[in-house]
Amino acid sequence: MRNLYTLSISLALCCALPAHAQQKRTLMRPVTVSAADQKMNAFVKNLMAKMTIDEKIGQLNLPSVGFDVTGPILSQGVDQKIEKGLVGGVFNTYTPAAVRKLQDLAVQKSRLKIPLLFGYDVIHGHKTIFPIPLGLSATWDMSLIEKSARVAAREASADGLNWTFSPMVDIARDPRWGRISEGAGEDPYLGSLVAKAMVMGYQTNSLGNKDAILACIKHFALYGAAEAGRDYNSTDMSLIKMYNDYLAPYKAAVDAGAQSAMASFNDINGTPATANKWLLTDLLRKQWGFKGFVVSDYTGINEMVSHGFGNLQTVSARALDAGTDMDMVGEGFLGTLKSSLKEKKISQSTIDLACRRILEVKYKMGLFADPYKYISEERAAKEILSPNNRLDAKVVAQSSLVLLKNDNQVLPLKRNAKIALIGPLADNKKEMIGTWSAAGDGKDAVTVYEGLRRIAPQMDITYTKGANLIDDPALLKLIIGYGATIETDAKSPQKLIDDAVAAAKKADVAVVVLGESAFMGGEATSRTNLDLLPNQKTLLKALTATGKPVVLVLMNSRPLTLEWENDNVTGILETWFAGTEAGNAIAEVLVGNYNPAGKLTTTFPRNVGQIPIYYNHKSTGRPYEGNIADRYKSRYIDSPNDPLYPFGFGLSYTSFQFTPVTLSTKSINPNGKLQATVTVTNTGQYDGEEVVQLYIQDIYGSITRPVKELKGFKKIFLKKGETKTVTFNIGVNDLKFYNAALQFVAEPGDFNVYVGSNSRDVSTAKFTLTK
Ligand code: BGC
Repeated sequence: MRNLYTLSISLALCCALPAHAQQKRTLMRPVTVSAADQKMNAFVKNLMAKMTIDEKIGQLNLPSVGFDVTGPILSQGVDQKIEKGLVGGVFNTYTPAAVRKLQDLAVQKSRLKIPLLFGYDVIHGHKTIFPIPLGLSATWDMSLIEKSARVAAREASADGLNWTFSPMVDIARDPRWGRISEGAGEDPYLGSLVAKAMVMGYQTNSLGNKDAILACIKHFALYGAAEAGRDYNSTDMSLIKMYNDYLAPYKAAVDAGAQSAMASFNDINGTPATANKWLLTDLLRKQWGFKGFVVSDYTGINEMVSHGFGNLQTVSARALDAGTDMDMVGEGFLGTLKSSLKEKKISQSTIDLACRRILEVKYKMGLFADPYKYISEERAAKEILSPNNRLDAKVVAQSSLVLLKNDNQVLPLKRNAKIALIGPLADNKKEMIGTWSAAGDGKDAVTVYEGLRRIAPQMDITYTKGANLIDDPALLKLIIGYGATIETDAKSPQKLIDDAVAAAKKADVAVVVLGESAFMGGEATSRTNLDLLPNQKTLLKALTATGKPVVLVLMNSRPLTLEWENDNVTGILETWFAGTEAGNAIAEVLVGNYNPAGKLTTTFPRNVGQIPIYYNHKSTGRPYEGNIADRYKSRYIDSPNDPLYPFGFGLSYTSFQFTPVTLSTKSINPNGKLQATVTVTNTGQYDGEEVVQLYIQDIYGSITRPVKELKGFKKIFLKKGETKTVTFNIGVNDLKFYNAALQFVAEPGDFNVYVGSNSRDVSTAKFTLTK
């Protein structure tokens, strides 16, 4: 059975391919092959001429051996398989000694001595853990984000690894989905910059460098749009929406040179990504010019049996045929491709192509020249958790913190104030490093309590727990089953609260550290309720009832619904899970040594019913403008439409005043440029940074267009009292979008320009694009 949908889409796309894409296709075909490529091609050709069909299929096999697993382990006897040339790489093994043992088997015992790839989920740091990716993106600082990936690559490459399953660049508009924590939020423009920075940080400008590791673009594609925010669920989406809102960050990672990509678990409009030829071949390779190899996500090939896409032999053949080159864990390729070849269900050339792609990447990494280049006890000892790496982690962590509320300048804390530090996350090392901190160890992390003690030793601080992190027995059982260690205090919940209230009453300010367990974020952690857990909320209510100022320090993997908190506490600092240096970074911010400047990259809803909610939405035909008497408008009768905190939002200890935006001209032609300018003054009492954001709206289009889209930003530092002028250049490329024929065009007409400190608080000006 052929998949008619895939076929018709490929045909439609092929025929409707935009002019610039057609042109790019022709341009992509290399007229001359570089000397380096010629050398590589000759090497790989020569090697493949010696390979048996089993050895070729072996290169497509990626078993898991070692530490972490996110599903069933299907591979047995991996050592013997390596010796027989039936393994292309392994994942979940690191440390020089463990990697050397397996690489020895490959290059000393196997017939053709082909070195192995060593993959791992180095997501936000290897041993020195940086903030979770959603927090990283809140820095709006690409050099810091690149640096975090660079440090991760240096540590991982010293520890035997040569391949990371990162960056995850899935756009996510649904905080019910636990994996929103692993990406850069909801915006395709910002997401693309982050994707590029991460790939550069991992691979550097030459994948052959000793401390560069292979990046993997994941999860291709649209994994973040899973229906109902439920992990692994289906995605059904128009091509226009894909092209305009979701695909850009994957493409940016390809353009940055990423040499591997991971097919996502979900199906897309009826075809699982893992066997989606339009996605993996037409779009990724032919349109975008991707030159690396595609790996399945875990047992993504086998899972197509449950998707109802065929038995294991059929789905394995379909995956290979579509452009999946490597089979992670499942061994569907190893077990069935040879039969499919005999039965003429796949061709020899399709197997050869996949094998060649993997060998080429190994060649580019320099593995044939030195299979042991990544294995160095000496480098590992020097590099891992070095003081410099920890310092980098602290600087990045500080920049990722977002101040959501600060009434009466409750923060920064006064040095002579008496502080009641409360909460199950205030002194909890293992939670600090967050989800997917695979090789990280909570023992290396600094808690808020430790950070405050170290940074402000003279401060009068009393710590009390106040509540268990999780009290709900069903959730507790589940999370412990996931591997968490969540202690339940010997004191009763009421006694915990009473002690905390007593401490708060004696103090000038209560600083309360609450949120999720790290195990409530990441893979397989979808939630339908995004409130603080009930026992934590009861504590918070008791503390606010004391009448003392309450500062809520949040740790969580996703936007939470915080309407009550916003109405009732004095200050709120969003800290995500900030990594190994979390406590030091948070303490620096609490005491005012660092003025927070992070901005949200994902909208915080008021309630779960508003989801999906995102700033770059369309306008309906009946937009609601806030007049509650307006009945037939696009609105809820039980909630406002607008979010609690909009995209781009984040406060500072100082205040910034923006002049209204001015434009250098009221009209440009398609070759023209204009400048949008604002002047920003630091009008408060502290030096600080501000992210000045530029949004554009295409007022009338041939298809409906978003109310605004991020098109630029600048993070500036202003001393107290200082004024700076910020100018954005706007050209025709900033106005382009994919139209109904999927042509990437700018349409003449009027555009609104918005500049401000977040997606809501902006000033506006208008210009025209002429023909
Ligand atoms: C996840 C991937 C991850 C892989 C390998 C899967 O379950 O979806 O993001 O890279 O496991 O650990």
